[in-house]
Order: sequence, then C-alpha cells, then structure tokens
Amino acid sequence: MVKIPNHVGIIMDGNGRWATLQGKKRSFGHRAGSKNVDMIVSHAFKSGVKSLTLYAFSSENWARPKEEVDELMKLLKAYIIKFTKKLLKNNVRLKVIGERDKLSDELVSAIDDCEKKSSDCTGFNLIIAINYGGRQEICSAVKRIIDEGKEITVDEISAHLYTAPFGEPDLIIRTGGELRLSNFLLYQGAYSELYFTDVLWPDFNETEFDKAMAEFSTRKRRFGKI
Ligand code: IPE
Ligand code: IPE
Ligand code: MG
Repeated sequence: MVKIPNHVGIIMDGNGRWATLQGKKRSFGHRAGSKNVDMIVSHAFKSGVKSLTLYAFSSENWARPKEEVDELMKLLKAYIIKFTKKLLKNNVRLKVIGERDKLSDELVSAIDDCEKKSSDCTGFNLIIAINYGGRQEICSAVKRIIDEGKEITVDEISAHLYTAPFGEPDLIIRTGGELRLSNFLLYQGAYSELYFTDVLWPDFNETEFDKAMAEFSTRKRRFGKI
C-alpha cells in the first residue's frame, strides 16, 4: 500500500549555487527558486498531501549581505501578493510562521491580508517559514506557557508551536545536498522521516518530489516501538 505523508516540510536550499554554476548572481537563483514554489505546491496538493511547510528564510539568514536579504524579502512579498487569489480559488489556507518583528510593514500586511482571506480554506495548508528558527519557536512557546501559568510539558510545548494546527511533519525534504536541519522544525521533527537530495531547489520538480514520496512510502516508522 502506498503511504502518503499528511504533512511535508521542505528546506528549499541551493538557489545560490544554482546561479553561481551558471556564472550568474545569487539573486538570479532566488528568482528561479521562487518561480518553482507554485508548481511544487500544486503537485503536493495533487499528491494527497494536506499540509506543506516551506522554509523560505531562517532567523540566521539575516547575516547575509543586505542586498541579498532585500531581494529575498521582495520575492516573498511578491509571491504572496501574486498568489493570494489562486490560493483562495483552490481552497488553500496560508499560514506564515516565524517572528514578524523584523519583517517590513508591507510584507506583514501582505501576509495578514492573505492569511485573513484564506483562514476558512480547508483544501490544503500552505505554511511558509519566514524569519523562522526552531530554537526560537521552542523558546517562545515555553515563554507563553509560563505567561499562561501552565505547567511545562511535552504536550503543552507541542500545542504552543506555530504548526500545532497542522500536526507534525511526516516527511522533511532538503534539497541542495547539505545533510542538516539548519534550525527547521526541531521540536515537531523529532520523528519525521528525512529525505536529502543533491538536486538544487530551482531544479527540484514534480519528478523529484515523487521520488521523495516513493522513498517515504518504503520507510518503516516505529516511533520507538518494535
Ligand atoms: C536557499 O538557497 C534560499 C535561502 C536560504 C534563503 P541558498 O541561498 O541558501 O543557496 P545556497 O545554499 O547558497 O546554494
Ligand atoms: C536553510 O538554508 C534555510 C533555508 C532554506 C531558508 P541555509 O542555506 O541558510 O542553511 P545553511 O547555512 O547551509 O545551514
Ligand atoms: Mg543554502
């Protein structure tokens, strides 16, 4: 029987190297990478996945040159504005996770607008991680539990994570050849199946997504049992 992951996370890595390999500027890779997102979202939906979390910008990515950070922020805003209508048409709910304090007012208002309009959509959940860090997420969950005067337990922490409504990722895919999580979904990824590919994000297409799905289907998840 084919097993389909309910929730997939993708660390979309390798845009910079993709551009450099062609003698182009890194921003060229980021533009190509952002063009790839729509196709993968549609394909995940068609494949029976219910929630897709995309790692777009980490809390550590601010350490990149300002020009590159600005370009990435511009692309994120453009993506959200451009696709709001299409997401609504396809019954897709958007949720952006991460800390918003450092994002521009324009980006925050594009996010708010799309999140509000799509809040009742039930066909698919698209979660985009922007200024996201797994450690920061755990810290902020714990702080909120303390503020609420509750006991700190594993279940309380889970319930206070940004992704609580969408469940834990069954499968985490990382493109671009690095074998690490880079602060992505650290708590909720405790029992995620991991899939690493050398394919750089702008080249990651439907066929590559299907390979990850096929691999997932062969995995035996034990969750500590035998
Ligand atoms: C992923 O591609 C996009 C972000 C991290 C924002 P990179 O920009 O990290 O590309 P490489 O890893 O340098 O090739
Ligand atoms: C992880 O990629 C973050 C995103 C894909 C958004 P990085 O390129 O920032 O990760 P490191 O620096 O190689 O660990
Ligand atoms: Mg990278």
